[in-house]
Amino acid sequence: MATEQTAMLTPILSDTWDAERSWTLATYEANGGWASLRTALAMEPADLVSMVKGSGLRGRGGAGFPTGLKWSFLPAPDGGPRYLVVNADESEPGTCKDIPLMMASPQQLIEGVAITSFAIGCHHAFIYVRGEVLHVYRRLLRAVEEAYAAGYLGTDILGTGYDLEVTVHAGAGAYICGEETALLDSLEGRRGQPRLKPPFPAVAGLYARPTVVNNVESIASVPSIVANGAEWFTAMGTERSAGFGLFSLSGHVQRPGQYEAPLGITLRELLELAGGVREGHELKFWTPGGSSTPLFTAEHLDVPLDYESVAAAGSMLGTRALQIFDDSTCVVRAITRWAEFYKHESCGKCTPCREGTFWLTQMLQRIEAGRGTEEDLDTLLDVCDNILGRAFCALGDGATSTVTSGIAQFREEFEAHITGHACPFDPAASALFEYTPRTGPALSGAAARTVGA
Ligand SMILES: Cc1cc2nc3c(=O)[nH]c(=O)nc-3n(C[C@H](O)[C@H](O)[C@H](O)COP(=O)(O)O)c2cc1C
Ligand code: SF4
Repeated sequence: MATEQTAMLTPILSDTWDAERSWTLATYEANGGWASLRTALAMEPADLVSMVKGSGLRGRGGAGFPTGLKWSFLPAPDGGPRYLVVNADESEPGTCKDIPLMMASPQQLIEGVAITSFAIGCHHAFIYVRGEVLHVYRRLLRAVEEAYAAGYLGTDILGTGYDLEVTVHAGAGAYICGEETALLDSLEGRRGQPRLKPPFPAVAGLYARPTVVNNVESIASVPSIVANGAEWFTAMGTERSAGFGLFSLSGHVQRPGQYEAPLGITLRELLELAGGVREGHELKFWTPGGSSTPLFTAEHLDVPLDYESVAAAGSMLGTRALQIFDDSTCVVRAITRWAEFYKHESCGKCTPCREGTFWLTQMLQRIEAGRGTEEDLDTLLDVCDNILGRAFCALGDGATSTVTSGIAQFREEFEAHITGHACPFDPAASALFEYTPRTGPALSGAAARTVGA
């Protein structure tokens, strides 16, 4: 029975995740799965595009671009191929919704692929999966095999004359290959680096043909819209951020996991569902949408988690990756770890990001170890200023988000590292980061103890 709290949840994508062998086609069909494809194949493709447009579904991969509108950008058919590419690269720190979805309910994604492909006139779709998640790759391969065997994929699907091939492709594990044009280059067998836009993938995407690139969660949401109608979807969420989404709570929270809820829910409500932050601690800071989004603090507990409200409060909804950090966490340390990630993942194509992420990391590591200067803080902000809006793709911009917002909101904590010549936090108190001891000639006594020298 739903309690007042769980009534806030809208289990749709996650509805059958706890069912017996939830990933099999048999379980999916027993719960009404694949019925939407039958409905869709009896419709006009253009009506399907209008339905998804009318639902207000916005891309769940981070940018929130309207899904139906993206589909409608494809040029008129010219007899040549057009493609659907599902972005299943999921590599942003904190983002962990597509992988559980594909593990628990891969048929939902594959049904969405079939419906979307029919709607856009595509006969060959690709699912590009992050290379490291071999278990997900295997599960998808098996799920696609099952869908072929049942006649939902292949030639003359359900006797309608519609043909669709689906290829599951494993990447080699690079965050940049989640950027849609780098993904396309990687899928074509090249080094994954972003392409200059325009032309956008809708006009010249995979093999220079019209291509729709959508996130796993966006595509997996399509069968439920076809089954229930656009108005059912718009009845959830807010006016401009319709529907439901997976909110991924991680970090210092009692019950981390996936909470599927209407857009517009607040972190305060989600924390109530998740049992609150770690016992005996207070919320210090959090990311609303992954490590590329500016930090929020306890002040933002009541910001509705929809695209507009989060932007108005100074951050981004991104992938709804809510990483929770309590008062035991050193913010300098957390930001340094993220900066190291961006430096490592920078593809090197453009100078502001390639050089800038290197310098951000150098300075942050120095400050964290108690060897920074007050001038470093201004230089950090200056480097961020030279990356933001000047980098070739959004990876560079994302690398600056936690640095600028962190300094704006926790400047005293950065200064305490500088004036105290050490990190004032006990590294053992935070269970989130593996602690790597560092040594330095300037460290001794208490300073040496706190930085592990
Ligand atoms: C560095 C970087 C990494 C990205 N990683 C992903 C990813 O793993 N999955 C994803 O769907 N979108 C990712 N995106 C966003 C994609 O470029 C693109 O906007 C998205 O796949 C579009 O799908 P949607 O409209 O359904 O959200 C990334 C963007 C950047 C700049
Ligand atoms: S911003 Fe970074 S990841 Fe993007 S193209 Fe430039 S170097 Fe590559």
